[in-house]
Amino acid sequence: MFKTVRGMRDLLPVDAQRMRYVEQVSRTISKLYGYEEIITPVLESYELLAAKTSEEIRERMYTFKDLGDRKVAMRPEFTASVARLVVNKLKNEPKPMRLFSVGSLYRYDEPQYGRFREFWQANYELFGSARPEADAEILILTNNILKKLGLKNYRFKVGHTGILRGILTQEGLDDEKQNSVRQLLDKKLWADALELASNAGISQKGLATLESLLEIKGEDAFQVLEQIKDSIQEYESAVDAVDNLWKILELIQESGAQVDVTVEAGFARGLEYYTGMIFESYVPGLDIALGGGGRYDKLIELFGGEPIPAVGVAQGIDRIVLALTKQKVTQETSTNSVAVISVKDECMAKVLELAAMLRNKGLFVEVAVMGRSISKALADANRRGVAYAVIVGPKELEEQKVVLKQMKKNRQQTVKISNLIEVILMDST
Ligand code: HAM
Repeated sequence: MFKTVRGMRDLLPVDAQRMRYVEQVSRTISKLYGYEEIITPVLESYELLAAKTSEEIRERMYTFKDLGDRKVAMRPEFTASVARLVVNKLKNEPKPMRLFSVGSLYRYDEPQYGRFREFWQANYELFGSARPEADAEILILTNNILKKLGLKNYRFKVGHTGILRGILTQEGLDDEKQNSVRQLLDKKLWADALELASNAGISQKGLATLESLLEIKGEDAFQVLEQIKDSIQEYESAVDAVDNLWKILELIQESGAQVDVTVEAGFARGLEYYTGMIFESYVPGLDIALGGGGRYDKLIELFGGEPIPAVGVAQGIDRIVLALTKQKVTQETSTNSVAVISVKDECMAKVLELAAMLRNKGLFVEVAVMGRSISKALADANRRGVAYAVIVGPKELEEQKVVLKQMKKNRQQTVKISNLIEVILMDST
């Protein structure tokens, strides 16, 4: 018997339905905020995907040579593909440009709770604005999705790449060393990160500043930002980074959006392309990020385009589903589902005709195709949570009527076919 490949999952109807529901809400939000959908290939050149991601992701990509001897990889994220598309095909489009993508991604991660080798993201990228309102929009949009889905007590962990970058650059660490320090911080290996910085030649003052920074975090955003500023006074561009984060969070607060944040000075994300504000979303009791994003102003340039500032986020659909399940949030289901059952074989054509008529009016219709007795067909419809059964028998048909059964109320009535839709719609509203 064949099994799925390790780390790959089959999604059964109930799981698939939950995933599609999160996708659907993400898509609705993309429209509400003016993000247009693009579809990019799952397979890209290895070089594109490897540039500026992270050592961890580079090592975990599904990489192979295609039959034309090209080194290709399955996308581990959307951002590189979207940036490639912008450089190749959209660079002269008016700005801002808002792009939405949804689909599957591949990382050879160690399979565990919330970590899969094939997973789904809803991804939003905003190109053309370096202003704080663009960063604010990405945070507010993410907040909007989680709220609309009905999640409770979620929070954003927020930081700014420029804080660490400002210190390490002034301390003379090159990009490669900075990336290594950031990766260790991302994995919360703080002692290792400090040791690496020390070996890379950071001054005592720099090391002490870093050490004190790692301690600073809290929910009172502006107080925390003051505290960070106090401890990095001598690093000019790090101070600018704090000011930038201040403006973003101030805009959000003054707009009245209820976005709960925890500001963390030592927060780092693994991806190498970030240049500004960074964030991840969390729910209590689930120690894995539901989504993450940030500003990356240098990627388009790196891919050969004119510099275009950009900020974006990816919502992890699988993990959002886990959070919804954990918080027992149920999705609204349609009540307009109907089973159409024939009493005798001779009524089957009429059953198909009625099913088509009901579907034309937007009702969800299942035809009883197993040739079961009425009572067995009704029991089956009941088991699957169908709201109405339409029973089509020769006696009623003579008078252009059918029997309509409201499954939940266990009540039935004989209804004229010409009134059937009206009766169902009246009952379901
Ligand atoms: P990321 O933090 O690598 O960022 O992934 C975003 C989200 O995808 C994570 O928070 C998580 O929910 C989900 N995710 C990642 N890996 C896995 C996995 N192995 N299993 C299940 N879910 C996973 C990015 O991908 C950036 N491209 C986000 C971005 C867009 N930044 C700017 N624009």
